Amino acid sequence: MKEEQVQIFDTTLRDGEQAPGYSMHIDEKLRMALQLEVLGVDVIEAGFAIASPGDFQSVSEIAKTVKRAKVASLCRALVKDIDAAAAAVKSAAHPRIHTFIATSDLHLKYKLKISRTDCLRQIKEMVAYARRFCEEVEFSAEDASRTDLDFLCKATETAIKAGATIVNLPDTVGYATPEEIFRMVKTVREKVPNVDKAIISMHCHDDLGMGVANTLAGIRAGARQVECTICGIGERAGNAAMEEIVMNLKTRHDYYRGLYTNIKSEELMRTAALLATITGIKTAPNKAIVGANAFAHESGIHQHGVLANAETYEIMTPESVGVKRTELVLGKHSGRHAFAERLKDLGYDFEEYRIDQLFAEFKQLADEKKVIAERDLVALAESKITVRREAKSEWKLDNFVVNTGNLMSTTAQVTLSKGGKIRQEVALATGPVYASFAAIEKIIKHKFTLEDYQIRAVTEHRDALGEVIVKIQDKNGIYRGRGVSTDIIKGSILALLSAVNRMTAAEEE
Ligand code: KIV
Ligand code: ZN
Repeated sequence: MKEEQVQIFDTTLRDGEQAPGYSMHIDEKLRMALQLEVLGVDVIEAGFAIASPGDFQSVSEIAKTVKRAKVASLCRALVKDIDAAAAAVKSAAHPRIHTFIATSDLHLKYKLKISRTDCLRQIKEMVAYARRFCEEVEFSAEDASRTDLDFLCKATETAIKAGATIVNLPDTVGYATPEEIFRMVKTVREKVPNVDKAIISMHCHDDLGMGVANTLAGIRAGARQVECTICGIGERAGNAAMEEIVMNLKTRHDYYRGLYTNIKSEELMRTAALLATITGIKTAPNKAIVGANAFAHESGIHQHGVLANAETYEIMTPESVGVKRTELVLGKHSGRHAFAERLKDLGYDFEEYRIDQLFAEFKQLADEKKVIAERDLVALAESKITVRREAKSEWKLDNFVVNTGNLMSTTAQVTLSKGGKIRQEVALATGPVYASFAAIEKIIKHKFTLEDYQIRAVTEHRDALGEVIVKIQDKNGIYRGRGVSTDIIKGSILALLSAVNRMTAAEEE
């Protein structure tokens, strides 16, 4: 039997990013896009170009940077939206315009206030308009699963006639059942006369927890593109999780016979971890495929079974999704070469000066901690990642002294350097982190508010590295920063400085 590819359309940076708490900066989106390309996705939906100047810039930077994957921008079926999308993806090696309009009577009547005839006219004109800019135009019939099937067929036929090469049939509100999705896709494939000129795509939200099941039902009915996100992030309850779709097709190849994706499944864990690192939102431990417990066997009976034969309780190997059974550790006697090689194995491609900086930090850490686990290295490396946004000169920590106790106010004295100049301030507050941050705010003379502060131990044991993530906001936007140290005050200061340096870089831009 000839194997057929199911194309993976990743919308982590568009639908995913729309979810509260998941907004990303341009450099973070670029970093994510590069990893999505390594993962092997076929299409990266980089954003909604007309939504804001920041979105436009992110889409166009990703379009310029990504080489193998197609880069899409979403746009409503409106001239000004399509113009923005076309301009944003124009430098892509493989551009795509993704235009949409709702087709359900509910949306037509209450949201768009147009008739079915108007809707068909708009599809015809706008898909044809988008085709003027781009060979590849995807049309989405928003709320397809609640659209009258005959009208959905008409809309699909119209879009394909006007030049759409992909037609997406979303379950926008996560309402459908797998049987309904199967029927919808099957009907469209049977009744639309020109359907062979386009690929049918699925885009299923997870409001009733059916996103992945519905996507798989669509695939069984003949959809050959699926829209999904890493860890299923997205509007409201999210989208279908890419790692789950991919591993269903792979693990149950006996059932989804003849179908494959181009995803390098061994990169799934790293990609999910990167998303968590970038957004500061941890993956739930019980998350299928990429959660920390997905391959952990706690009960004695299970452990015994797995030791005798892993297949007793493991339906896929941890290695197949990028989880290693044994972590390789480094120590204080490890040299720069071994260190640099390990970073490379972990997928980091740093310039030499960054490796030097990291190696110095690694040596310091190795003095404080006997063994450096891979997770420590990842935390260190991620604290250095800036894809493009770096301030001309950055604030660096020189030293700090904190005086604290339960019967006194806390004082922090912080000394920072920038471009060869040293500045020092003292601040008084109710706790050591607060006091250090107040001293830093005095030094940098730039007002900001602290939007979020999170701290976690990277590994177990008392000498664990603490990883701190802060989010600060000024009048221009929100900036995230990350810092790692065995000392949580130092980690907090480093995290704040990395956010402050981004804030400064944004101001300079
Ligand atoms: O959920 C949805 O319908 C969408 C479309 C715009 C593709 O996100
Ligand atoms: Zn959506």
